[in-house]
Order: sequence, then C-alpha cells, then structure tokens
Amino acid sequence: MEAYLIDWLSLLGRWLHILTGIAWIGASFYFVWLDNHLVPPTDPELQKKGVGGELWAVHGGGFYNAQKYLVAPEKLPPSLHWFKWEAYWTWMSGFFLLCLIYYVGASSYLVDKDVADIASGTAILIGLGTLIAGWIIYDRLCEAKLSGTTLAAIMTVLLIGAAYGLCHVFSGRGAYLHFGALLGTIMVANVFFVIIPGQRELVIAKQQGRVPDPRHGLRGKQRSVHNTYFTLPVIFVMFSNHYAMTYGHRYNWLILVAISLAGAAIRTWFVARHKGKASPLPAIVGVLLLAGVAVAIAPAPASNAPAAAATQSNPVEFLRVQIIIQERCVRCHAATPTQPGINAAPKGLMFETAEQVLAHAQQIAQQTASKVMPLGNLTGMTDEERAVIAAWFAHGAQK
Ligand code: HEC
Repeated sequence: MEAYLIDWLSLLGRWLHILTGIAWIGASFYFVWLDNHLVPPTDPELQKKGVGGELWAVHGGGFYNAQKYLVAPEKLPPSLHWFKWEAYWTWMSGFFLLCLIYYVGASSYLVDKDVADIASGTAILIGLGTLIAGWIIYDRLCEAKLSGTTLAAIMTVLLIGAAYGLCHVFSGRGAYLHFGALLGTIMVANVFFVIIPGQRELVIAKQQGRVPDPRHGLRGKQRSVHNTYFTLPVIFVMFSNHYAMTYGHRYNWLILVAISLAGAAIRTWFVARHKGKASPLPAIVGVLLLAGVAVAIAPAPASNAPAAAATQSNPVEFLRVQIIIQERCVRCHAATPTQPGINAAPKGLMFETAEQVLAHAQQIAQQTASKVMPLGNLTGMTDEERAVIAAWFAHGAQK
C-alpha cells in the first residue's frame, strides 16, 4: 500500500514539476528571444514615451505589440505581471520528488555500496549539503567582483569538481540528479534572491520618484545570463535517468561534464544567433563534444568482451544465468514483486520464465555490465555473476 501511495505522489509530483518547468523555461526562453528581436520604434510618440525597442508578432489569432521601456514608463500601470511562480513551483515540486524518490528511497536510488559504502542518512546530508553549499559558494563568487572570464573559469572548475565528487559518493543516477538539482537550485535562488528583488527595487524607486540603484540591474543581468547557460545541462540531467549508458558508465562524471558543456555551448550559440549573425563555433564545439561522448562510450563488439575470451571454449550454461537472475533480479522483476517498496514489475520487465529472460537478454546484459542493476545492488550481485551474464550474452545469449 505504501509503495502504491508513493507511486501516486511521484506521478502527481512529476506532472506538476514538468508542467511548471515548461512554463518557467518557456517564459525565460521567450524573454531572451524577445530581447534579442526588439527593434527601435519608428513612431516618435513611442520614442518620446521612453520605449527603446518593440516587436510585432502574430500568434493565436491576434497581433501583439510588445514594447520595452529603456528605464520605466512615466506612470506605472495598475497591474504588472511578474514571472516568478513558475520558477518557485518548479523548485518546490522538484525538491518534493528528490525527497520522495532519492531520500525516502535512499538505499535503492541514492546509495550504491560499490561506489561508497555510506549510510542512507549520511548520503541525504551530503545531498542537501551540496545544494546549500553550492548556492552559497556560487553567490559569494558572483559578488566577489571578478571579471566575467575569471568567474566562468572558477565556476567551471568547481562544477567539474562537483560532478566528480558526487559520482564518487552516490549511485550514478543519484549523482547526476544531484548535479542537476544543484544547478536548478542556483537558478531558482537567482530568481528568488537576486532577480526578483532587483525588479522590486525598480518598481519601488519608480513609486518614490527616485533613480533606481543600477547595481540591482547589473546583478540581475549577470544571474540571468548564468541561468541561460545552466538550462540545457539541467534538462539533460532531469531525463538522464532513462539513459543508463551515461550515468552507469565507469567515467560517468566525465560524461556528465562533457554533455553539460555541450549543452551550455549549444545554448550560447542559440542566444547569439537570435541577436543576428553569430559564429557557429560554439554549436560546432557542442556537437563535437556530444559525438565524442557517443563514440567514447560505444559498447565494445561482443567478441571483444573480456569475459568472452576467458570462456571461449566453454559456453555458459543458460541454467546458471537463470539461477543468477532468479536470485538477484526476480525479487523486483516479477509479476508480484516481493521486494518491499516495489509495487509492480519495474518498467513492466519480468524475468521469471526462460522466455522472458531470453526476450530481454540485451537489456539484462547492459544493465548488469554497467552495474546499474540490481538497483542499489540490494540483492548483492557479485562481479563474477556479472561476468557470467556478459559471457553468456557474448556467446549469443542461447538457451
Ligand atoms: C530492488 C529492485 C530491483 C532489482 C533487484 C533489480 N531491478 Fe531492475 N529495475 C528496478 C527498477 C525500480 C527499475 C526502473 C528504474 C527506473 O525507474 O528507471 C528497473 C529497471 C530495469 C531495467 C530497465 C532499464 C531501462 O532504463 O530501460 C532493466 C533491463 C533491469 N531493471 C534489469 C535488471 C536485472 C537484469 C536485474 C538483476 C541482475 C535487476 N534489474 C534487478 C528494480 C530492480
């Protein structure tokens, strides 16, 4: 019953998270795009009113004319829309999911005893500490009056360190998710602590008839730019749990760094392109990085599998494979799982009969070789057993 309840909480939390995330990132992409497409108004009336740029668009059956004021309009309108709840709800729903999946289920999803033998409580503290410390360090650095390049260099090094560190204390999946949560937390905290207060200062200054403090505008601008670069890496991380070839790899931290850099580079190019003519270099770097990762982690052809050589003259008995799977997988991958916390066969995959095992041979081989399965190695699968399955698969996964 409890597992069933958790499934529902997870379903609803994820639904909300994806919806608010789309609304938030959609709106912020739109405003970056809008800013880059504004043209100075030709109408002298508008110029006199202080409009610095405008844009005409047609959408959903009507014409829209957005205007951006250089400072503030002469008189503030009675209602002003703020874009902030999308960001806050994305973080709150994301944090809810993090607690529900990775903290309530820490022994399955967060801790991997083969990576680091730590208690669930310790792992949760490390996770939460990473998010809090990450924001504080980032925020201090931004306030330290460094040049843009120096700041970018320090941040890149620190984030590479975070990717390495997380991948050496958590399961691959837990590490990736925390890297994304770290960036996502920084993004939302930027909105909450810097960008929105800066906008509030603009409004209050206007109401009090004084010139707004320009520092707020500059800080807000800097943080918005950072958020722009973080967007693609965060989104990759949020769906990376579908791709065990990335987080399950021996060098998962390096893959995470490379894909994140590729995402940031591609986004850089995208923003520049909206401004007008842009060098394609960042996009090329991004694509080359992705291609490099794809080639580097490509599975070795079956005949090269090290386990295959050892048992070349002695094909693996299917019975042995079945016994291993029965012992290490079927507690969860069954029509009626007996593992507490697992409510139904994960991803609908059951390995109870010979046919079921044969039908999923490739997936079984991949998941056991990358050590992604058994989940959290809760069933204590040994390296030798993994080698047996690899050898069986290398020999054609015969019955
Ligand atoms: C403790 C429970 C548990 C055990 C034991 C377990 N699994 Fe899983 N398995 C899961 C869960 C949960 C998922 C779904 C993961 C997700 O949500 O992405 C899963 C997913 C999978 C997938 C699909 C992966 C994908 O993303 O397409 C395969 C294949 C798989 N397991 C194979 C195995 C094999 C082989 C074993 C035994 C060596 C095993 N599992 C043991 C819980 C378990």
